[in-house]
Amino acid sequence: MRKDFHEMKIDPSGLDRLPVYKLLTSSVIPRPIAFVSTVGEKGCPNLAPFSFFTTLCARPPILGFSCGRRKGEKKDTLRNIELTRDFVVNIVTDDLAEAMNQSSAEFPYGVDEFKEVGLTAVPSDRVKSPRLFESPVNMECRLMQVLEFGKDPDISSFIIGEVVFFHVRDELLENGYVNMHELKALGRLGSELYCRTKDIFEMKRPYPYPH
Ligand SMILES: Cc1cc2nc3c(=O)[nH]c(=O)nc-3n(C[C@H](O)[C@H](O)[C@H](O)COP(=O)(O)O)c2cc1C
Repeated sequence: MRKDFHEMKIDPSGLDRLPVYKLLTSSVIPRPIAFVSTVGEKGCPNLAPFSFFTTLCARPPILGFSCGRRKGEKKDTLRNIELTRDFVVNIVTDDLAEAMNQSSAEFPYGVDEFKEVGLTAVPSDRVKSPRLFESPVNMECRLMQVLEFGKDPDISSFIIGEVVFFHVRDELLENGYVNMHELKALGRLGSELYCRTKDIFEMKRPYPYPH
């Protein structure tokens, strides 16, 4: 292993948001993308991608993603979730990449973003928010908690939800797992870079692993 490298020491406390954002989003990679569908005041469906996204607990199943502000204002996704107290996380696959990217444009509140990007909203089983028909995995979530971080205008709301219903396309389920080779989930890197789930390898645990 090399031992002759130099390192930059960076104290984020004196930095603006952008340089810190760049460091974080190019180091914490690849990030999964929650393609979040919600419904607004007049029943208008909304769809937007969020890569500050993770699983938090398996039983009960809990997910969380972080929603920033746009010019100091809450994004439509957060507004809708506060209204209905639910949302759906749809998994983004290779073939949804272009539409996912388009859906991140700043559409005015009340515009049907499914229609705008040529995707289909279908009713969910347990929540008011619609789910994305074209995505092979949908997770219907009930809002549990919103944690707020940062100060105006750099506030981020970490939205935590319990998955109350899963939809997984039949041909993808194998022994309880989603077939990860076939799912072709997309990953987010820093800047405008992405990666595909292609270079998959196996590493056995040093202890018995439940299969
Ligand atoms: C791949 C990708 C990941 C994103 N991740 C986030 C995120 O984690 N948090 C966030 O606030 N915005 C994120 N954005 C930007 C939002 O998708 C964008 O602000 C969107 O317009 C919000 O839509 P809404 O106003 O309908 O909620 C991301 C955009 C892309 C393309």
